[in-house]
Amino acid sequence: MNPEYRSITGTFDILPDTSTTDGASDAPSSTWRYIEDVIHKVMQRFNAEEIRTPILEPTPLIARGVGAYTDIVSKEMFAFERGDTHYVLRPEITAPVVRAYLQHHLDQRGGVQKLYYIGPCFRAERPQKGRYRQFHQFGAEIMGTDDPRADVECIALMMAIYEEIGLSGLRLRLNSVGNPASRARFVEALQNYLEPYRHELSETSLQRLEKNPLRILDTKAQHEQEILQDAPVLLDFLDEESEKHYAEVKTLLQDLEIAFVEDPTLVRGLDYYTHTAFELESADIGAQSALGGGGRYDLLAQELGSKQAVPSIGFASGIERLLLAMEAQGIEAPAAPAVDVFLAALGDEAQRWVFRWAQQLRAEGLSVGLDLRGRSLKSQMKEANRQRAEYTLIIGGNELEAGGAQVKHMESGEQEEVAFDNLVAYLQRRIEA
Ligand code: HAM
Repeated sequence: MNPEYRSITGTFDILPDTSTTDGASDAPSSTWRYIEDVIHKVMQRFNAEEIRTPILEPTPLIARGVGAYTDIVSKEMFAFERGDTHYVLRPEITAPVVRAYLQHHLDQRGGVQKLYYIGPCFRAERPQKGRYRQFHQFGAEIMGTDDPRADVECIALMMAIYEEIGLSGLRLRLNSVGNPASRARFVEALQNYLEPYRHELSETSLQRLEKNPLRILDTKAQHEQEILQDAPVLLDFLDEESEKHYAEVKTLLQDLEIAFVEDPTLVRGLDYYTHTAFELESADIGAQSALGGGGRYDLLAQELGSKQAVPSIGFASGIERLLLAMEAQGIEAPAAPAVDVFLAALGDEAQRWVFRWAQQLRAEGLSVGLDLRGRSLKSQMKEANRQRAEYTLIIGGNELEAGGAQVKHMESGEQEEVAFDNLVAYLQRRIEA
């Protein structure tokens, strides 16, 4: 079959078996379900509550929130207009969560709001391994406290999910980007330092130097990295408040025995960060090595129009990159649940019986497979195997007359005659066991 339509480059289907589309992920939908279950379970342990926000958001929210000069906003938004409204497919979920927090006055629920999410995001990046145009994030936002314990709880929460999945050898990079005053002093020093090197900088870096100087530290060009080797370091410009916060975060991480490496060049690709910034990396997943990242964003709520400050910290991770890391480390999710019982029918009357009984057994909570195409018994048995049925019943004229069926345990091949009246109890007993 040569299909006329295909999924858009950088997006992919998640199939019951393995996907063969564009190599984004070969994981079947059951693996996604497993990961989502782990996320819900660990979030629950950390008493985080789920929030679901729309995939469409007003463009100005993202432009203001993430920052007009970031790559995400200036190059990668899937945005469009209808009438007077500007829509964007959300490229991330932090600004939307802050919007929802302000819109619904979630502060009035009292205390700190610990909100988590799982869902698709969209960025018009050049697709490659670990980088897609539709991808899936999970994350959490701890809102309404500037206590460094929130920073560390957020990091611990992120780490706990990877631990529960069984990944090892991950690297947590940590930095402080300080408060705006410290950052302004640093930016000035950085600009002064780079002035004599202007003619050696790429067009992109020159633009960044004007609009978003911190991002220069992110350059991948080797000669620029060399120039930056002796550049001023952000950490040296932290004021007392920022330094104290950073020191406390490090102490608390040590208390929890969460290993980290300090990386003064870690600047994140979104503009809203203050103080703590972090990224979790895996060496196993190629160039797009960041599994997840986050940081503190104490000023974002005000940037989005709040009169009150809502000091907050959060993280987000990509599910596709988590899948790549699992694959690289040979971690397999549990297989999809199999069918409890397959009902194979021989003849018209038996087909009708099976059709009715399938509903009855399902109402009793069993998962039941049956043939919907009137195929031969041989094909039906093949189908039972494909569905990995634990038991199979073969119903024909004789069975109907006798009022009982042969129930076959597929793995052992053992077979037993069971009266129809006892069928539900018989199957339930064995399947629960
Ligand atoms: P981010 O670093 O832009 O942060 O994205 C977080 C994670 O999403 C990345 O580490 C990566 O795993 C995944 N990701 C991002 N872009 C792609 C892509 N094109 N394809 C596949 N995966 C991708 C944020 O989005 C912030 N909202 C994190 C945060 C939450 N900060 C505070 N709270």
